[in-house]
Amino acid sequence: MRSEEGGLAGCVVTGAAGFVGSHLVERLLSLGCLVVGVDNFFSGHRENMDAFAEHPAFRFYERSISEKGLLRELKGWHPGLTVCFHLAAIVSVPYSVDHPEETLHMNHKCTHQLLAEAEELGFDGFVFAGSAAEYGEDERLPLFEEYATSQTHHLSPYGRAKYLASRQVGKSPIGAALRFFNIYGPRQDPSSQYSGVISRFADMALVGKPLTIFGDGLQSRDFIYVADVVEAYIRAGGLQNSGSGRVPARGVYNIATGTGTTILELARVIQDLSCALTGHASSLSFQPQRQGDIRHSVAAPHAFQKAVGWTPAVSLRKGLTLTLRWAFDNTLGSVCRHEEFNLF
Ligand code: UD1
Repeated sequence: MRSEEGGLAGCVVTGAAGFVGSHLVERLLSLGCLVVGVDNFFSGHRENMDAFAEHPAFRFYERSISEKGLLRELKGWHPGLTVCFHLAAIVSVPYSVDHPEETLHMNHKCTHQLLAEAEELGFDGFVFAGSAAEYGEDERLPLFEEYATSQTHHLSPYGRAKYLASRQVGKSPIGAALRFFNIYGPRQDPSSQYSGVISRFADMALVGKPLTIFGDGLQSRDFIYVADVVEAYIRAGGLQNSGSGRVPARGVYNIATGTGTTILELARVIQDLSCALTGHASSLSFQPQRQGDIRHSVAAPHAFQKAVGWTPAVSLRKGLTLTLRWAFDNTLGSVCRHEEFNLF
């Protein structure tokens, strides 16, 4: 992909070592972009960058988004930068409850700072990672973008900070805020009890442990596969067209499928797929409902589809198959070396 000056289109990706960030970097490199990755490894992992760390069009800086003047410095070194994908954030909702000030600072104030710098530096796109948590607990389903307002009762400082930042980005002449619903796929870290449910279920099912369902399992979520998320980023950055036809998106958009799946349905599909891979069935274990758990979360995804022609392409079953296959090939090997999980 060539910019008007004839050089490679340049993109900054903050949170490049994270689950989604690393997939986005890979895709941008495959499009021929110059990619400058930034991460401070607060929650990202160096090994997520293994696939492209040595790529000639990739540069990495171990820096924090809280550093004033960061974008100016990067632009000084790489004048071809024109789009900023801002993914770096405090991503844990429980952490945000324990650290509200830090969360507001990192997820809202630092986004504001980066956006202001991007505007001053003449960037033509600033794409921000918003969240379904911006809607708080709103019972009107599906959730339309305009439902999140300053009156919304956010259930966590994470949701509040993401809302404030999205609102600001959405008003910027260069900004697009993408409100992601429940993202899943290869490289999602299953290691904490607060990790995404699919990464946890995949991890547990493949080693034959029971899948823990919090509550009755009838709560639902709108699950979106990481490749569809990456495609949404590409469209939002206007990078789907090569050359001078680039038109980055503006505004606030839901990124989701529009279909709710209950946790129980999800568990059953993962049980099946995992059994097909390992030959062993895993059971279900019902645990008390999580405090503050939202009952249903399903988006109206049409605004973004209308704006840029994006539609999710990966069905839940297909996405789960790819995710389990990846977990089987990449994480299970080490677990299975432990006698306790000698399944084969
Ligand atoms: C919430 C936020 C999301 C944020 C994420 C990070 C909303 C709507 N979403 O997602 O923006 O990125 O937290 O933590 O606020 N579950 C089980 N068993 C498990 C794990 C989870 O039953 O082992 C259940 C949970 O109780 C929940 C559902 O699965 O009902 C989804 O949980 P999870 O993947 O953690 O995401 P959310 O809580 O929806």
